[in-house]
Amino acid sequence: MLAGFVSFEGIDGSGKTTVSRLVAESLRAEGHTVHLTHEPTKTWLGDAVRHATDDDVGPIAESFLFLADRAAHQTDIRAHLDKGELVLCDRYADSTYAYQGARLEGLVKDPIRFLRRASELWMLRPDLTILLRIPAELGRKRIEGRPNLIRFEDLAFLEKVAANYDRLARSRRFTVLDGTRSPEEVTLAAVSAIRKRLTPQKR
Ligand code: ADP
Ligand code: TYD
Repeated sequence: MLAGFVSFEGIDGSGKTTVSRLVAESLRAEGHTVHLTHEPTKTWLGDAVRHATDDDVGPIAESFLFLADRAAHQTDIRAHLDKGELVLCDRYADSTYAYQGARLEGLVKDPIRFLRRASELWMLRPDLTILLRIPAELGRKRIEGRPNLIRFEDLAFLEKVAANYDRLARSRRFTVLDGTRSPEEVTLAAVSAIRKRLTPQKR
C-alpha cells in the first residue's frame, strides 16, 4: 500500500484539481486507499478564507486565515496518515508561500520567510509536492469561464506567484511537471513521481 502525504501545487488553471482526481482514481483502481482533499477547505474556516478574499480584508489578515484553515485541516490529514493512507491535497502550504508571499511584498520583509516562521512549528511537511508548471497566460485562459471563482487572477500577480513557486521548487521535496501536456500525460507522470518517492507500507 502506498502511504504518505502528497500536495499538488500550481497557479490557478494549472490542472491541480483535474490531475489530483485522476491520480486518486488511478491509484484507487490499483487498490490503494487514497484520501483526496483540498484547500481552502469546505469547512467554515475555508468559507471564512473565501469571504476574506472576496471582501479583501488585506494581505496580513488573509494570510493568517489561510494558515488557520490549514491548522484545522491538518488534524484531519494526520488522522488519515495515521491509518496508513495516501493523502493527496489539492493546494497546501506552498500556496500560502507563493500567493501570500506575493501579496505581502512591500508590507513585510522577506514575506516567504515570515510565513514559514509563522507556521513551521506546527505544519505537516508533505513527503512530495508536485508542482504543475504552466505559463500564467495559459492558466488564465483555462479558467476564463469560471464565474467569480478566482480572486487573484491578475496576470502580473499570477506571474509573481509562478516565480515564487519556481523558487520554492528548488527544494528536494518538489517534483516539477510540465502542466501544458494532456491531463492523462500529467497524471501518468504524477503517479510515477508518487511511486518513486513514497515507500509502500505493509497493512
Ligand atoms: P486548477 O485546479 O489548477 O485551478 P483545474 O484542474 O480546475 O485547475 O483546470 C482548469 C481548467 O483547465 C479546467 O477546465 C480543466 O478541464 C482544464 N485542464 C486541466 N488540466 C488540463 C490540461 N492538462 N490540458 C488542458 N486543459 C486542462
Ligand atoms: P482554489 O479553489 O484551489 O482555486 P484554483 O482551483 O483556481 O486553484 O483556491 C482559491 C484561491 O485561493 C486561488 O486563487 C489560490 C488562493 N489561495 C491562496 O492565495 N493561498 C492559499 O494558501 C490557498 C490554499 C489558496
